[in-house]
Amino acid sequence: MYLGIDLGTSGVKAMLIDADQKVIGSASSREVATSRPHPGWSEQDPADWIRATEEAVAGLRAAHPGAFAAVRGIGLSGHMHGATLIDADDAVLRPCIMWNDTRSHKEAAALDADPRFRRITGNIVFPGFTAPKLAWVKANEPAVFAKVRRVLLPKDFLRLWLAGEHLSEMSDSAGTSWLDTGARKWSAELLAVTDLDENQMPGLVEGTEPGGILRPALASAWGLGEGVVIAGGAGDNAASACGMGTVREGAAFVSLGTSGVLFAANARYLPNPESAVHAFCHALPDTWHQMGVILSATDALNWHSRVTGASAADLTAELGERLKAPSSVTFLPYLSGERTPHNDAAIRGAFLGLGHESGRAVLTQAVLEGVSFALRDNLEALKSAGTTLSRVTAIGGGSRSHYWLKSIATALDLPVDLPADGDFGAAFGAARLGLIAATGANPAEVLTAPATAETIEPEAALTAAYEDAYQRYRRLYPAIRAAY
Ligand code: XUL
Repeated sequence: MYLGIDLGTSGVKAMLIDADQKVIGSASSREVATSRPHPGWSEQDPADWIRATEEAVAGLRAAHPGAFAAVRGIGLSGHMHGATLIDADDAVLRPCIMWNDTRSHKEAAALDADPRFRRITGNIVFPGFTAPKLAWVKANEPAVFAKVRRVLLPKDFLRLWLAGEHLSEMSDSAGTSWLDTGARKWSAELLAVTDLDENQMPGLVEGTEPGGILRPALASAWGLGEGVVIAGGAGDNAASACGMGTVREGAAFVSLGTSGVLFAANARYLPNPESAVHAFCHALPDTWHQMGVILSATDALNWHSRVTGASAADLTAELGERLKAPSSVTFLPYLSGERTPHNDAAIRGAFLGLGHESGRAVLTQAVLEGVSFALRDNLEALKSAGTTLSRVTAIGGGSRSHYWLKSIATALDLPVDLPADGDFGAAFGAARLGLIAATGANPAEVLTAPATAETIEPEAALTAAYEDAYQRYRRLYPAIRAAY
């Protein structure tokens, strides 16, 4: 048996699979709280991640006690880029500054202006990435910075608790702005720019390799034997890709989670920072990936749901099943700024074209379309970074809305595959990595794609109208940018 633990932004999910990769069960924690002490800030308490992991694991153990006791390998996945700062006693120095925290936009711009960062990491230094956060801490909380013994990514903080090791792997580390992404090693040169050195970074393994052994005290508390292997694991997007089998050149997925991601696997390192496409290491050796990231996908719908007091499911149900011609109202989903393609932490969202007739359903339609068009922007960015997609698989909570998938297929003008019933997300991918690390199985044999249950084709009668609406959407960003 193999256990996948996915530390998500809103909670932890634990999943158990057997040696044939059959899902035995999964359990989720209660919600992990995010605090937003100032506009643009987003923090979590790492102690809550441990509590949430214990909760999810306890749920899984209670439901499947026999199977759980046979766990031989664990894989970790987690939200990326967070700065978890640890002192010499492994104590947490301040709340984790999360991936969607944009306070360090000035520091990010300053690092990005140093040409070494784009050249060595293959990426823009985005405000959400880890290095600018450390530059912010140094400038604003110097006493904290002085005590930083190690900088850990969120899932690697869980590893410290699980295995007592300071270790990370390539896919998550590629999102720090300190990794030499082509060479898959820390860049001492870039670390020095932020007054850090390699000793303050965790050691590096590949996601498929062993990266620690479960501490005996935890193993006995969980009723497990000795020597449970913890895999290197992956950042959440690479872990989802492992779950979906998106590991070979040409394979791609669109993820509709809190953030939205258009992810393509690459057999080569293909950096193109100018397009604001992320070029990261994948979780398997000698493999990379590109992705476009939008900061608010289901988060945009959730915002609309909070404002209207109706659940996201009720809002999308109001639209029915048949795709409508694009709304005359346009929504820009930049609720916490945007990464791809704009790299703009300060831009904010907008509704444009409102009329007396614009009721709740029209606004819902505009929100879904706005996210679809933002993903189209990402498709164009991937194209300019050398990757042309012919189809994508949809994952994430937002993919429960058939209407939304139809809108995305039409905006991208690509078929969207829905995997056959099952849960192939990050927790499953993490469990697969646990299996590979514990057994030495060949990643290519384990990381296969699920069967497709349904393919959602673009709505041919509406592609031209969608194209017009996308072109209108595209013109609005520079106009809004200029107005503020
Ligand atoms: C990727 C990114 C998000 C987070 C949160 O670069 O910031 O997808 O990993 O899930």
